[in-house]
Amino acid sequence: MSDVLLGIETSCDETSAAVLITDRGVPELASLVILSQDIHKIFGGVVPELASRAHLKAIQPVVDRALTEAGVPLNAVDGIAVTAGPGLVGALLVGVCYAKALAAAGNRPLVGVHHLEGHLFAPALDYADLKPPFVALVVSGGHTVLLDVPEWGRYRLLGATRDDAAGEAFDKVAKLLELGYPGGPAIERLAAGGTDRYDFPRPMLNRGFDFSFSGLKTAVLYAVRDCGSLENERQDIAASFQSAVIDVLINKVALALDHTGYSTVVIGGGVACNRELAVRMADANAGHARVVVAQSRLNTDNAAMIARAGWFHLRQGRRSNMTLDADPRMPWPGLERDPEMYPSPR
Ligand code: KG4
Ligand code: ZN
Repeated sequence: MSDVLLGIETSCDETSAAVLITDRGVPELASLVILSQDIHKIFGGVVPELASRAHLKAIQPVVDRALTEAGVPLNAVDGIAVTAGPGLVGALLVGVCYAKALAAAGNRPLVGVHHLEGHLFAPALDYADLKPPFVALVVSGGHTVLLDVPEWGRYRLLGATRDDAAGEAFDKVAKLLELGYPGGPAIERLAAGGTDRYDFPRPMLNRGFDFSFSGLKTAVLYAVRDCGSLENERQDIAASFQSAVIDVLINKVALALDHTGYSTVVIGGGVACNRELAVRMADANAGHARVVVAQSRLNTDNAAMIARAGWFHLRQGRRSNMTLDADPRMPWPGLERDPEMYPSPR
């Protein structure tokens, strides 16, 4: 078992490294460095080639800084966890190659981690007592999945988005509202001063576990087109959109809790930074289910969550070897699909 574990994450536009130190069997976060690539703000979205180049420049200083902040020299690191996918292939490759080099040079165990499994483990860093079974909702810029988690490492897919991911919907609506990238935080800020006055659709409410956000996005498009003055309506449109998304997420979680009989729900991914979501989800479940959400810096892309998921796998005896490769469409290890709900791989 690794006592000092280095985590590395470069799947999209954050270069991140973290050190996890295990003391008496409990993994504690010793440092976390996240370098967000601001360059993409100019373009209103992530430019893959620029992301790869920025990772290449940043990876060494970011890892050095994480080790310094944790107070451990490189030769004290005895395990490495790295995001192997899904994500942007060029961006992933930077982290994977760097991690492989460190593993080979120091003869250290290496484990490739699935990015979404990382998001799922993030709350376990803040809540050491968190244990399955629970319902999990992972809402990020690229994915929206609802899971039944009977134990760590085993995940039953209940539902997924049929079109846009929740975070993607926030980003696209932010563009319609002429806000910057990423859209989620900007919409949340605006919504705080607005009123849920627009009657936007709540797609697929009470209809199974799947999500769909593209119709809601189109409804916002029409509202923006017809509102007369975007300047005057922006806050109310943002508040109404955010409220519609949250209603849908609360509804699907309620269905999943009902279906599984569990009394805990874990929310992860960038959209879990949304305070209104956390507060309303907790209110809706008050008295019958515990709602677990990590602190914000652990919800958006970061290496601490990758280290925590890697720690679990290393403890299970799993190792990657030098054939580990970046896989932009990496299947989620341990994910089971209900063959009736998901007859073919998606
Ligand atoms: O998990 P993440 O950092 O990256 C991916 O794996 O995709 O998620 C990024 C997404 C973006 O779409 C961003 O707009 C959204 O999370 N997000 C938010 C908030 N903060 C970030 N969405 C809603 N409210 C927020 N406060
Ligand atoms: Zn992510």
